[in-house]
Amino acid sequence: MPRRAVITGWGRCVPPVTLSNADLEHLMDTDDEWIVQRTGIRNRRLSHVEATDLAELAARRALACAGMEASDLDLIVVATCTPELLCPSTAAMVQDRIGAIGSAAFDLNAACSGFVYGTSVVAGLIQAGFAHKVLLIGAEKLHYAMDYRDRSTSILFGDGAGAAVFEPSEDGAGVLAVDLGADGGKGSTMVIRSMGSQGEPGPTNDPETFRLHFEGQAVFKIAVQNISASARRVLELAGLTADDVDLVVPHQANARIIESATRRLGIEEDRVFMNIAELGNTAAASIPMAISDALDAGRVQPGDTIVLTAFGGGVTWGSIALKWGDRTQPVGVHEGELPDTDMTVFDLLRENLDFYAPLHADEPPIT
Ligand code: UT7
Repeated sequence: MPRRAVITGWGRCVPPVTLSNADLEHLMDTDDEWIVQRTGIRNRRLSHVEATDLAELAARRALACAGMEASDLDLIVVATCTPELLCPSTAAMVQDRIGAIGSAAFDLNAACSGFVYGTSVVAGLIQAGFAHKVLLIGAEKLHYAMDYRDRSTSILFGDGAGAAVFEPSEDGAGVLAVDLGADGGKGSTMVIRSMGSQGEPGPTNDPETFRLHFEGQAVFKIAVQNISASARRVLELAGLTADDVDLVVPHQANARIIESATRRLGIEEDRVFMNIAELGNTAAASIPMAISDALDAGRVQPGDTIVLTAFGGGVTWGSIALKWGDRTQPVGVHEGELPDTDMTVFDLLRENLDFYAPLHADEPPIT
């Protein structure tokens, strides 16, 4: 059997502070019913710590799950479009914190497609024999780029991190095929201009420049078309059909996007994993968090054929076809938690709301 990269550890880090649709009703002209119908989202989590802290905890949990020591790793890759700092990379900071002495480390930015792009890199290196034990993390602190009075963007996104440990396997399991694509010509449909989310948005930044811009309907169409076409291509490359798929774990962008794309593929909803209702869209973190949740929910069985599929800023898209290995239970559990906070969601958003207030000077104040 050829050497392939198989996932042997998985973990996630979900920050404790929840932003519900009812909370959003206090900040903008929206309502729970509209958000649930158009997106499937009910809650999202906002982080009181940096994306690196989320990444570190997800990493420790994935390593415990794999029964692996950090010192055994030879590579750490972090997929993120909201790094705490541009340099050093989040991966390098995680490497230091977890004590992965001697491992290589770098960040990768393909926005919401980051985990799929990352999986292709990691799988390629493992297949070639250039890497053996690799940690791939998706981590985002997106709420800095959200203007919580802009109802067309900020209802969608949340913070979080997910991680996966990859190891070589020669028993038929692992990554079977990869399809990646991009269309830089449509890049202006989703833009985050600023870099580095450490600290709070400050007076040196212009809120109009800082906040996320996107063209919702254009992105919706790009997403549905490219996710379904990419997933179809990856199945073809793997010599599989939609009937062979046990579970699709898609980027959690919008429940309607996922439903439309998987309907086009002919895959009914009981073979599609969604956790968007509670976590929202967490960009590069969404697929690894969903993998972890799917395992916890007993939705993955040994030897299952799984398709990961995503689209995101760039614009980018990609899909992975993989065969799950023989273990669906963790070897061990990491008991650590994020530092406690007694902040309410409105405490946490105070600086954010003040920062974007100049863009809403002629609107009624928030009650
Ligand atoms: O990871 C990739 C990141 N990007 C995305 O995932 C974005 C993809 N796009 C989407 O998910 C959807 O386009 C949105 C959820 C952003 C918007 O849904 P939509 O069904 O495309 O709504 P729309 O933009 O066509 O707006 C329909 C109406 C408009 O009112 P009028 O012009 O018909 O009077 C909007 O002003 O809904 C209004 N609207 C809202 N109403 C209540 C827009 N946002 C809201 C809101 N609450 N939050």
